[in-house]
Amino acid sequence: VLFPLLAVVAGYLIGSLSFAVIVSRLMGLSDPRSYGSGNPGATNVLRSGNKAAAILTLVFDALKGYVPVLLVLKFGAPYGLEEGTAALVGLAAFIGHLWPVFFKFIGGKGVATAAGVLLAINPWLGLAVLGVWIAMAVVFRYSSLASLSAAVAAPLLQMLIWDVGPELPAIALMSLLLVWRHAANIKKLMAGTESKLGQKAAPAA
Ligand code: G3P
Repeated sequence: VLFPLLAVVAGYLIGSLSFAVIVSRLMGLSDPRSYGSGNPGATNVLRSGNKAAAILTLVFDALKGYVPVLLVLKFGAPYGLEEGTAALVGLAAFIGHLWPVFFKFIGGKGVATAAGVLLAINPWLGLAVLGVWIAMAVVFRYSSLASLSAAVAAPLLQMLIWDVGPELPAIALMSLLLVWRHAANIKKLMAGTESKLGQKAAPAA
């Protein structure tokens, strides 16, 4: 029990590194929680107009989901860490992103981190879900709509194409939390007031 517990706690701590805030701070940009949707995520950092900062946020938020899962899968066996633990570690990183211990538990929506987790758990599923995101983003130009579609697709594809293994509950729970975190986006999408991908934000009052 000790090693799986340590791995899950480590996953949570790594997930708690909110790269939208860290990258913005390092690059001298304003805190992403102070403008646009107020969300510490790559989409909102892009609203600052700084593409490099948005890409760095996206890559590091994805890596913090990808790397812990991969480490468990590659090196965990001698410590009794199996596939199920890897999925739990990914879920813990995702939860860290949503409720980061280092940032007063005010986190993001988990899209990039979930993508990283999926790519590590099941690379083909990760790529398929990424494909859904990109297709929806290209057609409709709403990051949130693309994220919501990808979140719905992830557990369905895993169930239909791959096994119903120990990773499915973790994938399904990530999707549920991700959709729930997009409640404000769903309202804006329905009201027609959601901002398009890359549209710059006026600084919030
Ligand atoms: O990555 C989160 C995205 O789906 C929506 O972000 O800032 O538009 O709420 P945002």
